[in-house]
Amino acid sequence: MDDIRRWDVPGRVNLIGEHLDYNGGPVLPIAIDRSLTIKVRAREDGVVNLWSDLPDSAKVSFATTVQPGDLGGWAVYAAGIVWSLMEAGHRFGGADLVVESRLPSGAGLSSSAALTCGIAAALNDLHGFGLGLTDLAQLAQRSENDFAGAPVGIMDQLAVLCGEADHAVLLDTAASPPTTQGVPVTWSVDGLTLLVINTRAHHSLADGEYAARRDECEQAAAELGLEWLAQATLDATVRLTDETLKARTRHVLTETARVRGAVNAMNRRAWTQLGTILTASHASLRDDFQVSCPELDVAVEAALEAGALGARMTGGGFGGSAIALVPVDQVARVRERVEARYAAHQWREPETFVVRAADGAHVVD
Ligand code: GLA
Repeated sequence: MDDIRRWDVPGRVNLIGEHLDYNGGPVLPIAIDRSLTIKVRAREDGVVNLWSDLPDSAKVSFATTVQPGDLGGWAVYAAGIVWSLMEAGHRFGGADLVVESRLPSGAGLSSSAALTCGIAAALNDLHGFGLGLTDLAQLAQRSENDFAGAPVGIMDQLAVLCGEADHAVLLDTAASPPTTQGVPVTWSVDGLTLLVINTRAHHSLADGEYAARRDECEQAAAELGLEWLAQATLDATVRLTDETLKARTRHVLTETARVRGAVNAMNRRAWTQLGTILTASHASLRDDFQVSCPELDVAVEAALEAGALGARMTGGGFGGSAIALVPVDQVARVRERVEARYAAHQWREPETFVVRAADGAHVVD
């Protein structure tokens, strides 16, 4: 039917620059070739109907006047972006939305940002709101912050909207509004690929610990008299007295340097160097920022033992996924090694798959 538009919206992995998006640092995510499809059709009766194949999802309906707290479950994300658009004065008469997912949910691959950004982009297109990609990302971030109650940064939204095939997206999160720049991803020319290892673990402390890290970073920046913690220089770790704040700051400033190093290595096709930087990022997230978990650490260790050039957790941490830069001919070996190590721990079998850098949200037909 020609009044239905179909959108394809990718998930993301973050190549490097973890926990920097709320610290004004550089971040280098990739939109991936695993996506959601969102079909959208306008309604005029003030109702939004939502059907999906996501786990635990029957049909959900809510009014376009929906408010925070009105509903829970995964539909909170769809309702949140409707609320955020309406709050910003982008009014519309309702919608039918059908969501089909090829993104593993709960894997830390930003299925929530794909949902909010995809709906925002589709409604913007349908109703001619005239919003640009950064506007959409900010409205989607607001829906997660103020409707869903998740104090996330803006990396996921910008990655999902501004991704480009065969490119990573370098974000400057200190700019107002944040800016994006494509960085070519050419490792496949040299026989390498990016492997995602979905640990299938999700530790319940994830949300509270994320908020706690944000608070600690804000506290450290305030003590140092900085607007953004990513502006800290080495003397910060001497000036701060609290050991926890010192460690958090050490992660933020070394990770900021690692993002610059990673871009440089990618531009020179220096893959061994890129791998070393990725692995160093993991160590910093594990030891200084303390957002890893045994399942992520074992995935990284096993990947490195089996021939990965580098590996790290990706996203918020405490479960979710790790990534590994792997020679194509070692992919099976890495997968087997990770599975064997998980089996020895009697953990659920992890899911591993190769990803490519894909385009951001776009209309299909
Ligand atoms: C989650 C958040 C992002 C970002 C990462 C950590 O994915 O949604 O905004 O803060 O954690 O880099």
